[in-house]
Amino acid sequence: MIADGAAAVNAGLPWDLRAAIGRLLEGRPRSALVAKAARLSEIYRAGGNSREAIADETGALAYTLARMPATYAAVAAVLAEAARRAPDFSPHTSLDAGAGPGTASWACAERYPTLASISMMDASPAFIDLARRLARDSVHPALRDSTSALGDFVRGDAPLPESDLAIAAYVLAELADSACEEVAARLWMACAGLFVLVEPGTPAGYKRIMTARERLIAEGAAVLAPCPHAHVCPLRMPDWCHFAARLPRSRDHMLAKTATVPFEDEKFSYLVVARPHVIGARAGGRVLAPPRRNKAGLTLKLCRADGIADVAVARRDRTAFARLRHARWGDGY
Ligand SMILES: C[S@@+](CC[C@H](N)C(=O)[O-])C[C@H]1O[C@@H](n2cnc3c(N)ncnc32)[C@H](O)[C@@H]1O
Repeated sequence: MIADGAAAVNAGLPWDLRAAIGRLLEGRPRSALVAKAARLSEIYRAGGNSREAIADETGALAYTLARMPATYAAVAAVLAEAARRAPDFSPHTSLDAGAGPGTASWACAERYPTLASISMMDASPAFIDLARRLARDSVHPALRDSTSALGDFVRGDAPLPESDLAIAAYVLAELADSACEEVAARLWMACAGLFVLVEPGTPAGYKRIMTARERLIAEGAAVLAPCPHAHVCPLRMPDWCHFAARLPRSRDHMLAKTATVPFEDEKFSYLVVARPHVIGARAGGRVLAPPRRNKAGLTLKLCRADGIADVAVARRDRTAFARLRHARWGDGY
């Protein structure tokens, strides 16, 4: 699925989204945006949230430069895995909760061409406005015609439309720890098929995913990924379940991040759960770290129903080696 340590292949932003962002940036002095993007990254790194980081259009645009490519790559990787686990799932409606500039909706539109109706919700007027303006330029009719509503799902001041596919990407991180479980349950209520959560791949992000996972299982959700089981997670701190997506950096993205290399590795934690009628199959095992390779073969750190195991695959075991030689961090078997 995802990155193998340093050698990853992942999605850049779709060309129509890049073009839409390019049009919005036309004629704007890059220096102000770059300064804003740097400030924004600082705030997020220090554990701040979008309310502090993004007050206006410039802030929202800076987010599209500094963060959207990475959150898009993570969401696209998670949706690719969701599609592998539930290949027949063909959603018609989607809800992107805490949509920001619409990142997850763009990834959903790319992954699921069956989508006919896309809803975005966010508490930030600057983001909702930007999400609308970007969506207008999508090649996907469902995204062009999407609805974007201003609403706060903690306060519950706007109805959450029921959708086949519900997603909240990099959103729980913005809430008080005590609100995560309840918000996850509320979004699950609005989900008629598949529910996807993506969080930063930090110990805190993993912890929030685990809190949501426990509540969702209690609410009857079937775990599809990344876990190969629905038992209590066997990982113990300082270990935590996270993956990585490598994404290309555009010139503007490099400027915004004052970066010197043309790619970035985005670490993320995630969860895909489903309603019982969605036909899907969990992986038998999940690769939890970059495989260790040597002349004799490779060793995979696997999460399985019976716990965590380091599994050695010897080159001389031709059948097993042929099956697993290209295994990457994040893959499910
Ligand atoms: C870090 S951004 C992520 C945006 C987008 N999902 C992405 O992955 O790029 C978090 C978003 O959640 C929104 N948000 C945070 N708390 C919210 C709430 N209680 N109700 C609605 N939106 C909220 C913020 O306004 C912001 O747009």
